[in-house]
Amino acid sequence: MKKTIRDIDIDGKRALVRVDFNVPLDAGKVTDDTRIRATLPTISYLRDHGARVILISHLGRPRGEEAALRMNPVAHHLSQLIGARVMKLDACVGPEVEARLAKLPAGGVALLENSRFYPGEKANDPEFAAALARLADVFVNDAFGTAHRAHASTAGVAAHLPAVAGFLMEGELRHIARLTEDPDHPFVIVLGGVKVSDKIEVIDRFLDIADSILIGGAMCFGFLKAQGVDVGASRIEEEAVPVAAQALEKAKKAGCELLLPVDLIVADSFSQQAESKAVPVNHIPDGWMGLDIGPRTASAFVERIVTAKTVFWNGPMGAFELKPFQMGTRAVAEAVAASPGLAVSGGGDTIAALNLFGVAGRVDHVSTGGGAAMELLEGKELPGVAALEDA
Ligand code: 3PG
Repeated sequence: MKKTIRDIDIDGKRALVRVDFNVPLDAGKVTDDTRIRATLPTISYLRDHGARVILISHLGRPRGEEAALRMNPVAHHLSQLIGARVMKLDACVGPEVEARLAKLPAGGVALLENSRFYPGEKANDPEFAAALARLADVFVNDAFGTAHRAHASTAGVAAHLPAVAGFLMEGELRHIARLTEDPDHPFVIVLGGVKVSDKIEVIDRFLDIADSILIGGAMCFGFLKAQGVDVGASRIEEEAVPVAAQALEKAKKAGCELLLPVDLIVADSFSQQAESKAVPVNHIPDGWMGLDIGPRTASAFVERIVTAKTVFWNGPMGAFELKPFQMGTRAVAEAVAASPGLAVSGGGDTIAALNLFGVAGRVDHVSTGGGAAMELLEGKELPGVAALEDA
């Protein structure tokens, strides 16, 4: 358990708040503000206590100062959400920043520039961390989505200030802990997306905890090939095949059901206009590729999900960005939302799918962290969490 903003005296203090405002932008506008909205309880609490709220985040993976990755659209969006002006600064540290922040009133909100414009951020440079710490009296980490990075604004700065979790961080840690500590059974995990390598450690760990692991998305092809299925022109990571074979073996020993597709929607090209049809997995025509799970697979997955007492979902079942290949991801999204037990999901594409199918609000916990949630589920310690004070 980590200390949170509830555990410290925050009245009138300058709070440096690390948030994960790494949000999708299009033509200078925020297109999905899930991560911004998720920090509002922390921001409101701090403002209500008269704190001066100094927000810092990275945006994208800039090489140096990229104009398209300035935080201005995020500041604008946040101003609208909180109904108050956000002081946007064009830098993160230095005398000018300090001078402007000195004018921030109690309850005021400022947003610093993209932290990754500074090489010291990713290098976790102690001098950059110390310069950030000079801006504030306390450090609040509410950036669960970036907590798996040991950067200056997520970990380094915590060495210089009282360091506590915000409400978003607290909620994420609590929900994800419920998946590993005595979850209710049946416990079903649904994994999709492209790479087996991104998910294999979670699969390994949960073979002993979950009752069923359902595998869709392009990552299923590594498993199907390991079972001798000819996957045609489907997207596959060749090096994942032996890893998948091992996981299938381990699943048998652990008594965990590792459920793979029995049918697929296949297409003659990766496009909206492609010719497509449903086929059993071992009937993929030459040169065709699987772009979604098939209807029989979707039914089997839905049946497991809606009868589960605990569900975790990460990764789409197919190329849901193309309309003809949405069925599997939609079916899973709706089933996760309808599941009567605890339903947790996370990851950028998964959130996008939940929003697209209009069911995000019906899932118990939608994690703002993709990589961070997976690392936590793998059993790893997150540097951004480890750096906070114990309760
Ligand atoms: C994310 O979107 O997963 C986080 O913001 C971390 O971003 P990163 O993978 O670029 O470190």
